[in-house]
Amino acid sequence: MTLKRVFSGMRPTGKLHLGHLVGALHNWVRLQDTHHCVYSIVDWHALMGEYEQSKNIRSYVYEMCADWLACGVDPERAIVFVQSDVPEHLELQMFLSCLTPLGWLERNPTYKEQLREITSRDLQTYAFLGYPVLQAADILLYKADEVPIGEDQLPHLELTREISRRFNSMYGVDLFKDCKPILDTTARLMGLDSRKMSKSYGNTINLVDTPEEIQAKVKNMITDPQRLRLKDPGHPDVCNVFSYYKTFLPAQTMDARAWCEGALKGCTDCKKQLADAVIEYLRPVREKRLKFGEDRAFLDEVLKKGAVRARNEAAQTMAEVRKAVF
Ligand code: TRP
Ligand code: SF4
Repeated sequence: MTLKRVFSGMRPTGKLHLGHLVGALHNWVRLQDTHHCVYSIVDWHALMGEYEQSKNIRSYVYEMCADWLACGVDPERAIVFVQSDVPEHLELQMFLSCLTPLGWLERNPTYKEQLREITSRDLQTYAFLGYPVLQAADILLYKADEVPIGEDQLPHLELTREISRRFNSMYGVDLFKDCKPILDTTARLMGLDSRKMSKSYGNTINLVDTPEEIQAKVKNMITDPQRLRLKDPGHPDVCNVFSYYKTFLPAQTMDARAWCEGALKGCTDCKKQLADAVIEYLRPVREKRLKFGEDRAFLDEVLKKGAVRARNEAAQTMAEVRKAVF
């Protein structure tokens, strides 16, 4: 039986945080048991946004690799590689660019939103408009059936499907499959300030944070604003701390609800208990992360092997693509 194929990628733009682990990486790790998985550190995608600070990307690539391995991504099973080690991504992007109407890219909601929201960098570039075409190339190069992604990436996956159908019908082939999203199953973990967890908001718990840092961060989390004193009953459903209980202390959500609504226990204790749980949860990840992070030679070896395996698959697809087009 041939396994279904999975592809996903992440841009190396800094340290990974708890949101990446709970939201995405747990899925990735689980899929390794049942699928042929290809996971790419997409440094060319990072470059599209960070081209002015391009020198940072190299070290982010290694950090990301160490983060992934610490979380359980297994290079013996999944193909783990750096996008720019496989030039076929750019070659396929070129073929796909030729048949991608400009209007599809200009209408892309993610593109419009990022142009609006990101003002620190000039994203009015040719490459950035074509971001989803490179993403489509990533996915199609490995003929992925399924793509684990966050909800914000759904428009890009839709574009991938449209581009692949257009390719197949234009050249009369059945080369590319329709890929399906695998959406994060865990309720999204919010940042410490209840906004989306994101490095740019400075509201993250990072995989490498020390126990002391985690204690301090959790201590400062916003709780139910109506609960000012211990004797005020709280409302767990509006409290971000409580939403973390569901992920990190699932067996204690009932107790937490009871002491919160009954004003039996204060927020300080409630948070302390959560911080301890997060610390224990991250302890093995952090230990592995520090070990991998120091072993550049090992990471190089992993990425080199991954690149060979990825290029091998990519070369086969490109042979078919060239044959279909020329
Ligand atoms: N655009 C994705 C993001 O920012 C990263 C990415 C690039 C990706 N290529 C991909 C995700 C292919 C899934 C499949 O999160
Ligand atoms: Fe939130 Fe816990 Fe305080 Fe209730 S007791 S408001 S759940 S921190």
